[in-house]
Amino acid sequence: MILLTGGGGYIGAVTVRELLDKGYAVRVLDKFLYGEDPLTEFRSRIDCVHGDILAMGEEILDGVDIVIHLAGLSNDPTAEFNPSANRKLNTDATQRLAELCKKQGIKRFIFASSCSIYDRGMMAEDIIQDEDSMVEPCAAYATSKHAAEQALLALADQHFQPTILRQGTVYGWSPRMRYDLVVNTFVRSAFEFGRLTVHCGGEMWRPLVDVSDVAKCYLACIQADLKDVGGQIFNLSHKNYRILELAHWVKKALDEFVEVEIDVEYGSQTARDYRVSTKKIERVLGFRPAVSVEQSARHMAQKVMAGTHADFHNPKYYNIKWLEMLVEVEKHLKRIGTIF
Ligand SMILES: NC(=O)c1ccc[n+]([C@@H]2O[C@H](COP(=O)([O-])OP(=O)(O)OC[C@H]3O[C@@H](n4cnc5c(N)ncnc54)[C@H](O)[C@@H]3O)[C@@H](O)[C@H]2O)c1
Repeated sequence: MILLTGGGGYIGAVTVRELLDKGYAVRVLDKFLYGEDPLTEFRSRIDCVHGDILAMGEEILDGVDIVIHLAGLSNDPTAEFNPSANRKLNTDATQRLAELCKKQGIKRFIFASSCSIYDRGMMAEDIIQDEDSMVEPCAAYATSKHAAEQALLALADQHFQPTILRQGTVYGWSPRMRYDLVVNTFVRSAFEFGRLTVHCGGEMWRPLVDVSDVAKCYLACIQADLKDVGGQIFNLSHKNYRILELAHWVKKALDEFVEVEIDVEYGSQTARDYRVSTKKIERVLGFRPAVSVEQSARHMAQKVMAGTHADFHNPKYYNIKWLEMLVEVEKHLKRIGTIF
């Protein structure tokens, strides 16, 4: 049985399908901050545990032989909204889950880390960074992911063999949709306004990867020989793209659906900027992501045209908007009690 934490999330919901399709038994542990609808289709085929990674008991690992750990805060704005909660969720809970796994003899543990660990800002030297590059993350999100990586590697031995995937920014369609990721934001913006706005001249580099390729990569890690992936860090990206290039790919992909203009703004110097090498994952796992930005944007457009996730104003698609709203409502509910 595979335990997938955060299985109700954007990447998780796509991964659940991939694992079930390949015949794995799946247990999802999720607080379902964004609701349970994304898993409706799979509900009868998975063991679905509604729970918090900050409060999980050892029994969550009963019958489990592999863990894929995705749960937590998943971008910069939500991490900065509450840095101490972010540290608890992204670092401390990861370490605790790893310790529980080690205690129970679960060796295989895949962790969803992030290439944002490499970010050193637009003024830094423009180099391609690999898994051995020195990193000095300073943002709350990247720092918490890096600290989690270090905690996992410190626990690694023959009884516990974590695999760390530093994922590029993800794009593509999921049953739990996010429109706060750069390519998905462009698709939404194209339909809503017919315009894509690119900041800082669009010069920033970013590694990106399609959500279905991320799910396939988890599978590749599970199926690989543990001696090849245990205790290893891998970058995962389809390609390094400049943001302006992304805007052009999205415009091209959506050509048949909507007319799109690209607005380029100059000025701000604070954008994230980094590019990475994927040679290690290609060499060791033979894994090469297949879905391009153009293909993925076209697929998202088809879904939108069919009316799926086309209610762009729904705050659930934007993690920070949704969390801010939940916190505000939670405050009021404490005072009001039930509404009716
Ligand atoms: N999406 C990306 O571009 C990207 C890139 C690099 C790394 N990652 C990492 O991949 C993982 C998944 O990202 P995503 O885009 O699917 O994010 P997401 O926000 O859609 O999903 C996160 C899931 O974790 C759950 N969760 C949050 N707090 C929880 C708690 N206390 N207990 C149990 N469950 C909890 C949420 O309910 C949600 O279902 C995250 O760890 C993220 O940091 C994502």
